[in-house]
Amino acid sequence: MALAEICTPALLVDGRMLEANITAMAAWLSKYAPHVRLRPHAKTHKSPDIARRQIAAGAIGVCCQTVREAEAMAAGGVADILLTNQLADPVKAARLARLARRTRISACVDDVEQVGLLSDAATEAGVRLTALVELDVGGNRCGVPTARDAVLLAERIAESPGLTFGGLQAYHGRAQHFRQPEERRTAIEQAIALAQETVEALKAAGLPCDAVTGAGSGSFEFEASSRVYTELQCGSYVFMDADYARNQRDPTGSTPVFQQALTILSRVVSHPVPGHVICDAGLKAMSFDSGPPTLSRHPSLRYVGGSDEHSKLEADEGAFPPIGELVQFDPGHCDPTVAMHEWIIVHEDGFVKELWPVARGW
Ligand SMILES: Cc1ncc(COP(=O)(O)O)c(C=O)c1O
Repeated sequence: MALAEICTPALLVDGRMLEANITAMAAWLSKYAPHVRLRPHAKTHKSPDIARRQIAAGAIGVCCQTVREAEAMAAGGVADILLTNQLADPVKAARLARLARRTRISACVDDVEQVGLLSDAATEAGVRLTALVELDVGGNRCGVPTARDAVLLAERIAESPGLTFGGLQAYHGRAQHFRQPEERRTAIEQAIALAQETVEALKAAGLPCDAVTGAGSGSFEFEASSRVYTELQCGSYVFMDADYARNQRDPTGSTPVFQQALTILSRVVSHPVPGHVICDAGLKAMSFDSGPPTLSRHPSLRYVGGSDEHSKLEADEGAFPPIGELVQFDPGHCDPTVAMHEWIIVHEDGFVKELWPVARGW
């Protein structure tokens, strides 16, 4: 099928760019940080098909943010899953524990309540779960604030019959989107310092810390070279988005330039006034939480506004796309954009190559 035969709006992934992004990350790690493992975040793609490709390129498993994602990844054959999140109810804890009968499962905690919940669910399912203490290294989301709190919680995990203490999660989400490399470096240096202090405090308490996991596509080079982090959780690098494209790169850095593999295919449907172009992809096809889409494949077009099912573009003089023309948007934020679609349409040379389901679960 040619791209022109697709019913727009639709989620497209350029197959060659996707492979290039997966290969670039794997090659960078094996050259610059071979001691660090990659556990890509599957919340970006929700696709076992992509997870399998990342694992074939050397990833040790995936991260998931929800139990549904973990179930979808396990069903798709992923053998090692880290839930980078806290669970607060016995229904989800039981579902996660049942997965551990066939898949290696770890999960994060930052409170004794969650420790009890996970341990009970594991005991009930006849499995052991690995629990990691989440440390707040600057993201201001979940996570215990100090090394001392982390030690107290790790002791509770170690005493719990259904659990094994697996280490620390130290993810600094906000730092990923600081535009200047120096701002990202400074923020991650603080994260590394707190993670290091906590590893030492755990060791002093007789709790060796096998894993320190974190990092995203905006900062991974700093965590990877820290000698404290053992695992990277980058997600967006497989697809990229308009927000990540605004990050300035370190001019001396060796980090790969990831390509904009993900786009939203749309069609010009109207020309109400000269110079204005209306397309059929709007708020229901692309996420705007990190700003509007860009149009890197169409340098003469600019996004100027939109609504549920429409986008309004301005065109340069003489570059006015006709009604029916296809337009590819780079969405502001890749993860929530993917979650708006049922299918990932993989294309090469203007033709559909594969159709992969977005595994949302139930
Ligand atoms: C806990 C955690 N780890 C890793 C990531 C991946 O980050 P990115 O998609 O920026 O690479 C996220 C994304 O929000 C996250 O929440």
